Parts: sequence; C-alpha cells; structure tokens
Amino acid sequence: MRPPASTLFALLFGAGAAPRALAHWNYNQLIVDGAIAGSPWEYIRRPNNSDHPLTDVGSANMRCNSGASSGITLNTSTLTVTAGSEVGFGIDETFGHPGPQQAYLSRAPAGVKARDYDGSGGWARVYAAGTLANSSWAEPEGLSWAVRRKHSFLFTLPPETSPGEYLLRAEGLALHAAHKLGEAQFYVSCAQLRVTGNGTGTLGPLVNFPGAYTPTTPGVLIPDFWTYIKNYTSPGPALWPPGMKETHVVKTFPPLEEEQDDD
Ligand SMILES: *[C@@H]1O[C@H](CO)[C@@H](O)[C@H](O)[C@H]1NC(C)=O
Ligand SMILES: *[C@@H]1O[C@H](CO)[C@@H](O)[C@H](O)[C@H]1NC(C)=O
Ligand SMILES: *[C@@H]1O[C@H](CO)[C@@H](O)[C@H](O)[C@H]1NC(C)=O
Ligand SMILES: *[C@@H]1O[C@H](CO)[C@@H](O)[C@H](O)[C@H]1NC(C)=O
Ligand SMILES: *[C@@H]1O[C@H](CO)[C@@H](O)[C@H](O)[C@H]1NC(C)=O
Repeated sequence: MRPPASTLFALLFGAGAAPRALAHWNYNQLIVDGAIAGSPWEYIRRPNNSDHPLTDVGSANMRCNSGASSGITLNTSTLTVTAGSEVGFGIDETFGHPGPQQAYLSRAPAGVKARDYDGSGGWARVYAAGTLANSSWAEPEGLSWAVRRKHSFLFTLPPETSPGEYLLRAEGLALHAAHKLGEAQFYVSCAQLRVTGNGTGTLGPLVNFPGAYTPTTPGVLIPDFWTYIKNYTSPGPALWPPGMKETHVVKTFPPLEEEQDDD
C-alpha cells in the first residue's frame, strides 16, 4: 500500500490528469551568448508530433524527434557558433515534470551539412542537469530537480569542439511514470550548428540513438515511484570532454524566467 501522497502526485503530474501545457514542452528556442538566436524554431528542427513525449527508446525518433530527421523540408537554418560559447535551450512551457535535462552533440559526417544530417552517427553527452544540489529524498516531494519549474538551461559548448557541422540535441527525461517499464517520457529536439574556433577535440565516448538507452537502463527505469527514490544519476555515457560532471545547479536565461514567473 502506498501512502496517499503518491496518489496526489500521480494526479498532479501524471499523464492525462494535468492540462497539457502544464507539463509537456518543446525546445523551440536556441540561446547563444545571452540572447535567443533568431525566431522560435529557426535553428531547431520542429517535430511534427506537437509536444508529445517519446516513450519508445528503440525508435529512430530518439535522435531528433518525430518528423525531424532532416532540416531541409523543415527549412531549419544552421547557426554559426564559436566553440566555448554559452549555449542552451528555452521553452514556452515549464519543465513541469520531475527529471533531468541533458544535451548531446553529434558531428555530421565529412561533407554533410548539419541540415542534411539525420543524426544516425555517434553522439557525445555534453551536459547533464540532475537533482538539485542538497536535495534530499526526505523532502515532502522527494528529490528536487535542478530544472524544476524553469524554462531554460544554459551550458558551455566545449571549447574543445572541432570546427564543423553538428546537431546539438536537447533531451528532457520525465520520470513521473518511470517506475513502470517503458513509461519514461523523452522530450527531444535538435539544433543545427556550424561550429567555428580553435577546438581540436574528438567527441567521445559516443552512443547511437536508438541504442543509448534500453527500457531497463538505470535512470530510464527507476526502482520506485519518483517521490520515493533516494538518489538519481542521469543515464548516458560519460560526459565529454573527459572530467565533465553532471551539474546540480542549473544556469538559466533570465528574460525567459522573468516572463514566465507566474507558472
Ligand atoms: C511525421 O513525419 C514522419 C516522417 O516524415 C511521418 O512518417 C509521420 O507520419 C509524420 N507524423 C505526423 C503526425 O504528421
Ligand atoms: C525559410 O527560412 C528562412 C530563414 O528563417 C526564411 O527567410 C524563409 O522565408 C523560409 N522559407 C520558407 C519557405 O518558409
Ligand atoms: C549544500 O551542500 C554543499 C556541499 O555539501 C554545502 O557546502 C552547502 O553549505 C550546502 N548548502 C545548503 C544551503 O545547505
Ligand atoms: C583562435 O586562435 C587564434 C590564434 O591564436 C586567436 O587569434 C583566436 O582568437 C582564436 N579563436 C578563438 C575562438 O579562440
Ligand atoms: C541509487 O544508487 C544505487 C547505488 O549506487 C544504484 O544502484 C541505484 O540505481 C541508484 N538509484 C537511482 C534511481 O539512480
């Protein structure tokens, strides 16, 4: 028997119970060096499934989302960004579900433009924001999340990134039903970048989508209802560049947070 709290949280955060806008999201804004780049979706491939999450980790949609395997038909532009810039993603909604936010980077094969690249090559994990620093499972809602109720996250595009054409993939993982097999929700989008600078690094370790996760990967499947788990580590390969760690404090884009403070 569960205490009543779990029923309450299931009602508040469970799929179907809450109005869609309260919980689902789309990464429609690319943020670079303190400003939103262009208009919404200009540099990010717009999925064709509204703001619905992905639950099949075995699907090729895990790369860039549904209907977003190419930037040509979507007319997505590629933004030139210097390695070492501060980059990030913004949303019109709120990160209304418990769980981490991550970013992966994949280099287009030689001679292929970011816009033409389907994301079938290797991906390095370059950012992970997990539980909030000092968060304790003993809090009323269990662990707190670094991005909870925020609308953006920012990180450094590694200065080591070699010049070239890339996809930068945002991945939000909603855990409110992840104690059930196949019920973790993935929110995914790809931005198209042309990286310049003096980086000479090689991305790695690399994973593929599908392939990076299985339905039973720890962190995709959690051992208990989310308000009851005592610790959490985001799934995925070691972060790149080597030595990079999952963060527990998220840097946000202030104008986006102010506009939407009433959420
Ligand atoms: C999204 O795009 C894919 C690939 O082109 C297509 O198979 C699918 O039917 C589309 N879905 C919707 C809802 O339009
Ligand atoms: C494609 O995108 C460019 C840049 O955002 C815009 O100027 C142009 O109007 C778009 N074309 C179509 C057909 O939407
Ligand atoms: C959070 O944890 C860090 C590291 O253990 C500690 O230095 C800091 O004082 C804590 N902050 C709060 C507000 O408890
Ligand atoms: C790349 O190196 C050149 C020569 O050292 C330097 O002038 C330039 O500022 C560097 N560019 C970046 C983005 O660091
Ligand atoms: C918590 O830590 C244990 C021991 O390291 C690990 O087996 C377990 O998977 C972790 N739980 C979560 C939800 O990450």
